[in-house]
Amino acid sequence: ALGQPLKGVNIVITAGPTREKIDPVRYITNHSTGKMGYAIAEEAAKLGANVTLISGPTSLATPAYVNTIYIESAQEMYDCVMKYFPQADVVIKSAAVADYRPKITYDQKLKKQDGLLSFEMERTTDILKELGKRKKHQLLVGFAAETNNVEEYAKKKLETKNLDLIVANNVTSEGAGFGTDTNIVTIFDRNLDKLELPLMSKHEVAKKLLEKVQLLLRVENK
Ligand code: PMT
Repeated sequence: ALGQPLKGVNIVITAGPTREKIDPVRYITNHSTGKMGYAIAEEAAKLGANVTLISGPTSLATPAYVNTIYIESAQEMYDCVMKYFPQADVVIKSAAVADYRPKITYDQKLKKQDGLLSFEMERTTDILKELGKRKKHQLLVGFAAETNNVEEYAKKKLETKNLDLIVANNVTSEGAGFGTDTNIVTIFDRNLDKLELPLMSKHEVAKKLLEKVQLLLRVENK
C-alpha cells in the first residue's frame, strides 16, 4: 500500500556497541551510540516493516513499534541474530561488533599489581560473514566503518562477506560516524553501483538506504 511499502517485510537490524567482559567491573567496548541503527529501525517501522532491533547497550529510548532485544557481547548478538535469521527478509548490520574479546573473563575483580598488566584477546565470530555463508532469500546489508581506503575496504567487505549492499562510512570525517546525529556515507551494491551521499541526518541516511533496499526487493521480486 502507498505509504507502507515495506508492509509484511521482516527486517532485522543490529545497532550499538558490544561489551566484552574482562572481570565483573570492567569491559572493552567502542564509541557506537546506536543512533544510526535506531534511525534505520524507526524509519523501517514507519514504512510498515516488521522490525526486530537487536541492540547493544545504549542510552537511547526503545523505539515505538519495534521489537527490541537487548544483548551485551558479540556472542550474544550472534546467538540472537541467528535465531531471527531464518524468518528475516532483510538484515541490516549497523552495530559496531567487537572483533576481539578477552580470552579469559575473570570471576573476581582483578586486583592492582606492580608493573604491567597484559591479557590475551581472541577473535569473536564475524556475524555478517556467517550470515553471508548461510543466506538463502535474505538481503544482507553491511556497514563498513573505516578510517582510510574507505571505498577499497568497503568493496572488499561486500565481496568477502557475500553482501547485497554495503554502507561505507568514513568515521574520521567531521559530522560522520560514531555519536553524531549526522553521517556521510556511500552505498555500494553488487554491481558496484555507487550512491555517494552528502552530509545528512542519520534518519535521512536511513531513508535513502531503505529506498535502496526496496528497489532490490522489487528487482529480486521478494
Ligand atoms: O552507533 P552510532 O554512534 O550512530 O555510530 C554509527 C556507526 C559508525 C557505528 C555505524 O555507522 C557503522 O559504521 N557501523 C559498523 C561498524 C563496524 O563495526 O564496522 P566494521 O567495518 O568493523 O564491520 C563491518 C561489518 O561487519 C559491520 O556491518 C559489522 O556490524 C559487521 N561485523 C563486524 C564484526 C563482527 N564480529 N561481526 C559483524 O557482523
